[in-house]
Amino acid sequence: MGVSDYFNVPIVGAPMAGGASTAELVAAVHRAGGLGFVAAGYLAPETTADLVRRAAARAPGRFGVNLFVPGADTADPSAVAAYGARLAADADRLGAALGPARWDDDHYPAKLALLTADPVPVVGFTFGCPEPSDVRALRRAGSTVLVTVTTAGEARAAAEAGADALVVQGAEAGGHQGSFEDTYERTTPLLDLLAEVRAAVDLPLVAAGGIACADDVRRVLAAGAAAAQVGTVLLRTPESGASRTHKDALADPRFTATTVTRAFSGRRARALVNRFVAAHDRIAPGGYPQVHHLTAPLRAAAARAGDSERLHLWAGTGFRAADDRPAAEVVASLTTAL
Ligand SMILES: Cc1cc2nc3c(=O)[nH]c(=O)nc-3n(C[C@H](O)[C@H](O)[C@H](O)COP(=O)(O)O)c2cc1C
Repeated sequence: MGVSDYFNVPIVGAPMAGGASTAELVAAVHRAGGLGFVAAGYLAPETTADLVRRAAARAPGRFGVNLFVPGADTADPSAVAAYGARLAADADRLGAALGPARWDDDHYPAKLALLTADPVPVVGFTFGCPEPSDVRALRRAGSTVLVTVTTAGEARAAAEAGADALVVQGAEAGGHQGSFEDTYERTTPLLDLLAEVRAAVDLPLVAAGGIACADDVRRVLAAGAAAAQVGTVLLRTPESGASRTHKDALADPRFTATTVTRAFSGRRARALVNRFVAAHDRIAPGGYPQVHHLTAPLRAAAARAGDSERLHLWAGTGFRAADDRPAAEVVASLTTAL
């Protein structure tokens, strides 16, 4: 099936790893006529299987599962260690230890095997291009395959790997940029990127990044997208599993801007500018997932303590539109008078 067969209204509820994408959020987007996504990034295979079962029960026949494609182990250990030393004061203040700065593959092969053996309607990838043989196996199993791209070159590679559709992620997007490599700065706004990708490949496109109102949705559809993918505007909904601290920060007038930073995870991600970002952004080294694991206990402690100045407050540029109201209402408001 094509990606458009999975929604009645052209809204994709973005996969949001780290807890926001609950089965309830997937179900609410589904009931509103959109396509909801399970975010399997960071999760163990067993936890993924459980979440997929719960989503499948609540959103039968129409949901996706998103995986992180692991990258190469390219971090400079001494730079990561020096960064850890610099974070010691923040960790102390929260009574947290820093984590082991290790590389891992996020259980990617096991999660792929799970989705091939027990197929789901849609499988999405971010942080890299899946192997053509894996795409073929998923498609043979009946899944529609989406790949997130952030440049026209990535779009061509994903098309060659056999993707059915692409998520075109503009620089406005909240959370991690899904670039195949994290080695270059990327500032192309969504509408420009959509035009570049449309010129490069002939595949259905899902537009993501900073989409916050019905006008934004109209604009991306007019630019040729099949649907709009939204993350940040769903973060404060009751169905979202984002932490209380994160939800409250999105509405806190103290936070006025977002920026793209490697300070929390070693990979570029858009977040609200808080004290942690202001203090560490310029010296944070690249190195995902090492820096992610290094800061994970600090960030967990910040969430528990309600310390919004030390938490990774992922947010897209449209964060002001994130409201505390049911996800179905958010989806309906995005599709009024389309
Ligand atoms: C909290 C959060 C977590 C995210 N986690 C993922 C993820 O696991 N996989 C993924 O493909 N994209 C992830 N993203 C990016 C979204 O898929 C999407 O590109 C982005 O939310 C769109 O921009 P917006 O937040 O401005 O709507 C995440 C975004 C946020 C805000």
